[in-house]
Amino acid sequence: MNDSAAQRQAKIDALKAVLGVDSHDDDARLQLIEVLIDDGRTEEAMRGLVEILARDPSSAAATDLMRRLVSPTPAAPEPTASTQVPPASGAAPPLSTEAASPGPGDVERVPVTAAPPDGTDAETLVDVRSEAVRLADVAGMESVKERLEAAFLAPMRNLEVARAYGHSLRGGLLLYGPPGCGKTFIARAVAGELGAKFLSVSLADALDMWMGASEKNVRAIFNTARASAPCVLFIDEIDAIGGKRAAMAHSPMKNVVSQLLTEMDSVDSDNKGVFVLGATNHPWDIDSALRRPGRLDRMLFVTPPDESARLAIIRLNMRGRPVGSLDYASLVHRTEDFSGADLTYLCQAAAERAMLDSIRTNRIRDIETSDFTTALKDVKPSTKSWFHAARQVAQFANHDNSYDELISYLRRRRVV
Ligand SMILES: Nc1ncnc2c1ncn2[C@@H]1O[C@H](COP(=O)(O)OP(=O)(O)OP(=O)(O)O)[C@@H](O)[C@H]1O
Ligand SMILES: [Mg+2]
Repeated sequence: MNDSAAQRQAKIDALKAVLGVDSHDDDARLQLIEVLIDDGRTEEAMRGLVEILARDPSSAAATDLMRRLVSPTPAAPEPTASTQVPPASGAAPPLSTEAASPGPGDVERVPVTAAPPDGTDAETLVDVRSEAVRLADVAGMESVKERLEAAFLAPMRNLEVARAYGHSLRGGLLLYGPPGCGKTFIARAVAGELGAKFLSVSLADALDMWMGASEKNVRAIFNTARASAPCVLFIDEIDAIGGKRAAMAHSPMKNVVSQLLTEMDSVDSDNKGVFVLGATNHPWDIDSALRRPGRLDRMLFVTPPDESARLAIIRLNMRGRPVGSLDYASLVHRTEDFSGADLTYLCQAAAERAMLDSIRTNRIRDIETSDFTTALKDVKPSTKSWFHAARQVAQFANHDNSYDELISYLRRRRVV
């Protein structure tokens, strides 16, 4: 259970009093550091850790805490007001009319109507949350947002207008692109924009080793979605389940894909307010039946983070760490093609360098641009190999123009 700020302060005072009596009581000091970290007082915590590690470099507890301090879990990103896509004029209110309960971002388990008979609890397969992330939180990526708005969000926000113009509201959206570039993040933002719940599905968990159970799991997942409407049902790594059926002619997996197709069609016919989003790094491996009209019939290419996105991701990673006057412009310039995950790793490597220096000299120093320069010698963009594979597709498999966005990106960036 989390302490309140007042409880944390009381603990801090008590532990400082203990240390006043015996300044070498490392147990008390470690406890104090832990509370300081929880309280967001990272510099004070860092100073304490450096002191312990200077005395005892092999202290496992101090090393663990140091690791926790230099790799903070990124919290919900700071909104970047300048990047918000304005809602279409005359936009309908959010689809959800329910009271916001539970609060934004809260994870909730909803009862499932069809539990698989083998005892697998479908609740373990689906995470249901009221989504607080909005498109404004996704930094930069203007062209991705514009396409998202035109292909998906504007019609969904203006259901009546879209219907009047005969715009089909059936079908879902497939997000594709190199790993670690924000597909999951953007899917959450779509749910936030629509005022819908976000159901994220772990397909690896849904694939059961027992014959037939996986199909029941897929059915249970969609039943959960129907019970949670309006919602975005997000199927991550959809290639794991939606692989080409021809390649698995004699595999039980074939039935799972069939079940997925049946469920997607029925979402369209008997469910209002269930929007299916899929994500994959390998769109070319997905069974074409899954991409037919009414299913995942629209594709959105999620590019590596652009300049504003890179700046926001680096800043987010530096939050709570000791930083001096970092040359952000140069870092952004030097990290073209880096994925969000690569940038996080780079920031961690730079922070580690400054930390080791601080331990060596027993003096806290800020993370500098030079730490990044050194880290950049080892950390390389991981998107290159993805683009290499994508180039083949762009050249040979674009029969139905599905990959036009990808091709124009490759041309602009001169990757092909
Ligand atoms: N435009 C952005 N603005 C802010 N943060 C971003 C942006 N793009 C990515 N991130 C951050 O980068 C990290 C990776 O993003 P995410 O997990 O959504 O990528 P992904 O494409 O789903 O990756 P994978 O293919 O591994 O599933 C996340 O921590 C996310 O918050
Ligand atoms: Mg993801």
